Amino acid sequence: MTRFLWRLIGISFAFAFLLSCSNPNEKVSSQSEIDFKVDSVLSLMTLEEKIGQLNQYSVGEEMTGPGNKDKEDSIKYHQLLSGRVGSVLNLLGAENTRKMQKLVVENSRLGIPLLFSYDVVHGYKTIFPIPLAESASWNLELMQKTASISAKEAAASGLHWTFAPMVDVSRDARWGRVMEGAGEDPYLGAEIAKARILGFQGDELSDPLTIAATAKHFAGYGFVESGKDYNSVNVNRQILMNQIIPPFKAANEVGVATFMNAFNDIDGTPATSNNYLLRDLLKGEWKFSGVVVSDWNSIGEIVNHGTAIDLKEASQQAINAGTDIDMEAGAYIKHLKSLIENGSVSEEVLNDAVRRVLKLKYDLGLFDDPYRYSDTQREKKTLMTPEFEETAKEIALESIVLLKNDQQLLPIQSAQKIAVIGPLAKDKDSPLGNWRAQATAHSAVSLYEGLNNTIDENTTLDYAEGVKLSIGPNSFHEKQQIEQADRSGFEQAKSVAKNADVVIMALGETAYMSGEGRSRADIGLPGLQLELLKEIYKVNTNIILVLMNGRPLTLSWEAENIPAILETWHLGSQAGNAIADVLVGNYNPSGKLSMSFPRTVGQLPMSYNHKNTGRPTSGPGMVFYTHHNDVENSPLFPFGYGLSYTDFEYGEIQLNNTSMAIDGSITASIEVKNVGRLAGKEIVQLYIQDVIGSTTRPIKELKAFQKELIEAGQTKTFTFKITAKELSFYREDGSFGPETGTFRIFIGNDSATASFKEFTLK
Ligand code: NOJ
Repeated sequence: MTRFLWRLIGISFAFAFLLSCSNPNEKVSSQSEIDFKVDSVLSLMTLEEKIGQLNQYSVGEEMTGPGNKDKEDSIKYHQLLSGRVGSVLNLLGAENTRKMQKLVVENSRLGIPLLFSYDVVHGYKTIFPIPLAESASWNLELMQKTASISAKEAAASGLHWTFAPMVDVSRDARWGRVMEGAGEDPYLGAEIAKARILGFQGDELSDPLTIAATAKHFAGYGFVESGKDYNSVNVNRQILMNQIIPPFKAANEVGVATFMNAFNDIDGTPATSNNYLLRDLLKGEWKFSGVVVSDWNSIGEIVNHGTAIDLKEASQQAINAGTDIDMEAGAYIKHLKSLIENGSVSEEVLNDAVRRVLKLKYDLGLFDDPYRYSDTQREKKTLMTPEFEETAKEIALESIVLLKNDQQLLPIQSAQKIAVIGPLAKDKDSPLGNWRAQATAHSAVSLYEGLNNTIDENTTLDYAEGVKLSIGPNSFHEKQQIEQADRSGFEQAKSVAKNADVVIMALGETAYMSGEGRSRADIGLPGLQLELLKEIYKVNTNIILVLMNGRPLTLSWEAENIPAILETWHLGSQAGNAIADVLVGNYNPSGKLSMSFPRTVGQLPMSYNHKNTGRPTSGPGMVFYTHHNDVENSPLFPFGYGLSYTDFEYGEIQLNNTSMAIDGSITASIEVKNVGRLAGKEIVQLYIQDVIGSTTRPIKELKAFQKELIEAGQTKTFTFKITAKELSFYREDGSFGPETGTFRIFIGNDSATASFKEFTLK
């Protein structure tokens, strides 16, 4: 009885604090107030309730009320009601989230609200280009805007937290998840990470139009060996700190609310139980005060990695290393209590993890009003507005990269007979890409529809599918086995092509050929598409190849023979309209690759910022240097590459000084003239080489860029300020800073640019 009374008093005490900021429009309390409140709630919690806050389950609608539940669901349901679940993923919609929140708030002893989380990766209902595509826009402002729209839609649907952005740098296009990231470069990746996080989170997490973001996957996942998903990662400290870590560090600097573990091991320790990554670096050196969530069952997978004998030992390792929330392994809920009781995990470690989760709930304003995101009226008004669609088109336009345009085949002149051929031409689903959240299946504007909407009355369209393309392995949405040897559509496609002035071939990958679990060992055009292309080429060489894909592809034959190639990725809801605008010249393409396209898969992993090696070149006819005997060293299309319908002429690089003090700066500038007849946006890129270092250094590293519109005939001067920050790197001893000596500054229109000026850092 006395215990019961104490609890009651304690609870009312805590709720007095909770209610003290109960006006949802008021700015949520200051951080010290929040810390105080968090501690007061913590002091009321039982061990089981604390552990419950660290337990996350994936649940569906059936969990929002009593009903027929199988055994596992019934356990989850009862744990929810008793406050033994702190957050859920995959439950969506204002109504469902409200129902479940009510169940938990009203039935559990302390009524601590749940967090609702989901993978909102490139849009929620309005779908934007896949992240790799968006990254090719190099337009940080627009990427921030698409993330903020995604947040608005998701928040209106009851969600508090997205597992995005994925900020894994990757040099291997075989890895299916490159579609989710920003490509191969740590600097561009860091800038995009910041933009996306600021977009999702806005200025204040307490703003109900924003959601918490996640920097994932910490760390090294993009470096899985041979690009095979979930594979081991073997990178040295130099690569880890200078190539992999920068976007994560940037994410922390802009206040990302959560980090997610990676599935892989790194340096022999699974990322989920990695003390160095989580305790020393993230929570130690960087003072990250948010939440670390495991990846799906990644605590359970520590056992498969072979560094823990069972789930109990895995739980001990994960929580001690700093993984706060257990996603779907059911590990903490089963084992943390006994680990604490036998002293293998301290209460301090547990309390620290719980505090972080409670603090996130406070920051989101959930203690003020647990239902503030679950508003059906707001949901109805917010999803897929014409204004959001407009932005989806705008970023789609900027994400398209023109790879080749011989004979000025593009833009397409009016009054022509156009043949549109290929399995992706009328596909309304693939442009939505993988990780398309709540997109309605088959809801994208197809290329064919887009062209129909855009061409004038003097132009005609004819169509043939040519060949079918499988939907992709293990699709969640549709199972479709395609007969890979079916050439029965070739003849009709050839006759359509023969009668046309120009042929648009829509080829590439379906949505589920890239993404998680979709690594490929051969990254050429899948199935019979290349064969079809070669057949069409025999009857009409005026071909514009429109690629739709989730990763860089190997396109050697295509690049040699096809006069025009447009990379359009998986461009989202407005795909067809955007592609059509570029094809007919309503928009002048301005995207540039954020990932190199190799000539052949044997070149992978590859990136522009490689080391010089001891044998970078050799004399004529010599073989003893760094190269493959059967392919050139360069990529087919380098990082930073992309053409325009106009031409830009670069002047000479100007430096305002030949030397710079460590605490000083140097200014580099260059004139860029639009010498063509059309206005166009150009992305001017600045790379730096640290010529001699205490460790081997990359031949070039992107350190700044600017994207600007230049009118036809206009000359613009681009100016960049370089300080010690741009010259710094993680050295052998772990310290971060610049080293004195010679540096080269390259400025150009892609990473292959060769002209540079030197200066000395003193
Ligand atoms: C596994 C993926 O690796 C991760 O990125 C995602 O957030 C979770 N599943 C949840 O869906």
